[in-house]
Amino acid sequence: MALSDFTGPTGVDDWSADLDRRWPERGAAARAVVARIAAWAVEQNVRPARALELGIGACHLSAAVLDVIDQCPVVGAGYTGLDIEPRLLDHGRSRLSHHDPARIDLHQVDLNDSNWSVGLPPVDVTFSLQSIHDLAGYQALQNIYQGLAELLRPGGLLINADFVEAFPQDDPQKPRRFPVSTHEDLLTARGFSQFSHSRHGKLACMSAIRSARFPVAVRSCPL
Ligand SMILES: C[S@@+](CC[C@H](N)C(=O)[O-])C[C@H]1O[C@@H](n2cnc3c(N)ncnc32)[C@H](O)[C@@H]1O
Repeated sequence: MALSDFTGPTGVDDWSADLDRRWPERGAAARAVVARIAAWAVEQNVRPARALELGIGACHLSAAVLDVIDQCPVVGAGYTGLDIEPRLLDHGRSRLSHHDPARIDLHQVDLNDSNWSVGLPPVDVTFSLQSIHDLAGYQALQNIYQGLAELLRPGGLLINADFVEAFPQDDPQKPRRFPVSTHEDLLTARGFSQFSHSRHGKLACMSAIRSARFPVAVRSCPL
């Protein structure tokens, strides 16, 4: 049975382990996210200055991504993680506490809010695992990609690993899981190029590069 709360001393880890049991392909999808970031960093020959994650969960993926970033040759990368659940944010602060606190920035944000990205700093890499389908549907997905287009620096990397096929229980009038082609179309329309993906069971790890030639209006409202 799916766990839906984080109570008890190991509540967050139990919840995360339950996700891994129900969706064994999560491991391969998470490894694909980390490998894509590592390959991008090598291509760019830079260490990303700031990475952003949407839907941090138990911060297993952020820990792996920070390890990869730390192996790149330049110093100073930061990590911003967003989630709606205060318990997950507290858990993340604890899990990532061995890093310099100046690098780690965890915020409570409702990603269904159309202004979710306002005031966040520019980033070089954004990633998300099995989280965007939890939002309110197509409009929310559009809004996420619009916000990421505004936050990413030109040449920056976007990765969204998520379900790309509908589940039997999904309401066809309000879909939340979209095929790869929908993601590619939305990203291309927002100035992303070099779209690619790999399939891992019901998940796909999708990535694209924010084009340097495609200006996107940036909303202003500093934190
Ligand atoms: C299925 S979990 C995946 C967590 C993590 N990425 C992983 O793969 O282990 C979905 C995540 O999205 C977050 N989330 C769901 N709805 C959200 C919302 N409206 N705003 C921000 N975060 C949300 C949840 O709290 C949770 O951390």
